[in-house]
Amino acid sequence: MNEHDSAKPTSERHVPVLKDRCINLLAPGFEAARLRGETPVAIDATLGMGGHSEAMLQRFPDLHLVGIDRDEEALALAGERLKPFAGRTDLVHAVYDEIADVLEDLGISEVHGILMDLGVSSLQLDERERGFAYSFDAPLDMRMDTSRGQTAADVVNNYSEEDLVRIIRKWGEEKFAGRIANRIVTARAAKPFATTGELVEQIRAVVPAGAAKSGGHPAKRTFQALRIEVNEELDVLERAVPAAVEALALGGRIVVMSYHSLEDKIVKGVFQARSKSSAPLGFPVELEEHKPELKTLTKGTEVPTAVEIAENSRAASARLRAVERIRARRAA
Ligand SMILES: C[S@@+](CC[C@H](N)C(=O)[O-])C[C@H]1O[C@@H](n2cnc3c(N)ncnc32)[C@H](O)[C@@H]1O
Repeated sequence: MNEHDSAKPTSERHVPVLKDRCINLLAPGFEAARLRGETPVAIDATLGMGGHSEAMLQRFPDLHLVGIDRDEEALALAGERLKPFAGRTDLVHAVYDEIADVLEDLGISEVHGILMDLGVSSLQLDERERGFAYSFDAPLDMRMDTSRGQTAADVVNNYSEEDLVRIIRKWGEEKFAGRIANRIVTARAAKPFATTGELVEQIRAVVPAGAAKSGGHPAKRTFQALRIEVNEELDVLERAVPAAVEALALGGRIVVMSYHSLEDKIVKGVFQARSKSSAPLGFPVELEEHKPELKTLTKGTEVPTAVEIAENSRAASARLRAVERIRARRAA
């Protein structure tokens, strides 16, 4: 973020991805709650700068919103933005696989809509000192929650070459993972990595110039891999999607936007498995507990329009899936 940008109000600093589509998909879940005489409750599991949350609170004047983020800086900024709705919001510093604990602490038994806008925020990418961006020299950190956990410097300085190859190849889908990992291990023997600039310099030295021309910045995929590893993004997501389904009231809806094929694979796996009958083959009747829990609301994934991508380049890789709970939750 340049100085000019950080002086702007949060609402002007970023455009929420697929905002109207997300809200339209969530709306019937809130309506189902109202029809039962309940106050609609939503979880924004990735509060970020509060763009989607603000839009939901504006559109639904009776909505209570629980906003979760593991990044305290994001929570503080979103808190400022959502001040006008303070009586209808609970903003919580947590990891989104802790949904059950967050709701228990708030005394909320179930919710009617859950939004997950995965990955890193434009705030995190733009704040130089967070170390997420390959284009600025900064401490090699990349933690979304700066209060705990290992940094990207810990990963590049301590992981074995084999483990570095694995994460750079898998999470970064980087075909030069072997060369990059080998270069990291050689360079760190002389001097441990401390900054993003030092890492970029070593990556540049081994990624052929031609590959960088067609595949974007030579460090792009390695940085993505390190960020996913540092924040354990995929392990957390594997626990979080089932946790979200468990928290959902009958008729409630979940909308997830993924930005990486491995994220989407996890979301798709849980949604598909829970949208099928679990009756054993040849079972004469389908018992209530075997009925599908979810109904899919999107055909495959939905993607943003060219206009949305022009307004917000981050939207380009967004893939949206949504489901509705069609079988009542088990009584707790
Ligand atoms: C793409 S941004 C969300 C932007 C938001 N929808 C908005 O309109 O401003 C993702 C946010 O989710 C947070 N986040 C990512 N993984 C998380 C996790 N496992 N638990 C809690 N928050 C997480 C990040 O810190 C970041 O602020």
